[in-house]
Amino acid sequence: MKKLAIFASGSGSNFQAIVDAVKAGKLDAEVSLLVCDKPGAFCIERASTEEIPSFVFNPKEYASKADYETELYEKLKELEIDIIVLAGYMRLIGPVLLTPYEGKIVNIHPSLLPAFPGKDAIGQALAAKVKETGVTIHFVDSGMDTGPIVVQQSVSISETETRESLQAKIQKIEHELYPSVLQKLLHS
Ligand code: GRF
Repeated sequence: MKKLAIFASGSGSNFQAIVDAVKAGKLDAEVSLLVCDKPGAFCIERASTEEIPSFVFNPKEYASKADYETELYEKLKELEIDIIVLAGYMRLIGPVLLTPYEGKIVNIHPSLLPAFPGKDAIGQALAAKVKETGVTIHFVDSGMDTGPIVVQQSVSISETETRESLQAKIQKIEHELYPSVLQKLLHS
């Protein structure tokens, strides 16, 4: 059974969707760890409810990204983590993790990359008044939402679309797409 570490910074609804898929027998993996860089984020509560260990840290308490990633890497090695799943983790991954986990880190982003990378992709799409946006799952490299694309799914934006309605449509897709793509990747 492959072991996943899920990295999140916020609500963790994608973390929950992946955990639920494992529990439902739709994803043959073990969610072995939550990594969170925001003490107090709701994803930590979700992990605790699911009795999944979490590694919570405050980047400001470290001198550099290399410092906290070195500590993180020790934890990932100790738990024999196979794959890193970024799910709303709001930081770039540095070489300390990228090098040993090359090709084994995936991310989900709420746009059709390369359109609207970075923060607030949903707001960016609305501001650009495009008629379509979507969800991208991709392998992670050193760039901001770059790296080889695994899958994309589009979402239409209606005339009356609000941030809330678009976010709800995107999240619904994310919660189904991420577990199913992970299942395919694990068996490829
Ligand atoms: C998702 O929309 C994901 O695409 C983006 O951050 C959001 C995380 O939401 N990278 P949640 O914390 O999983 O609810």
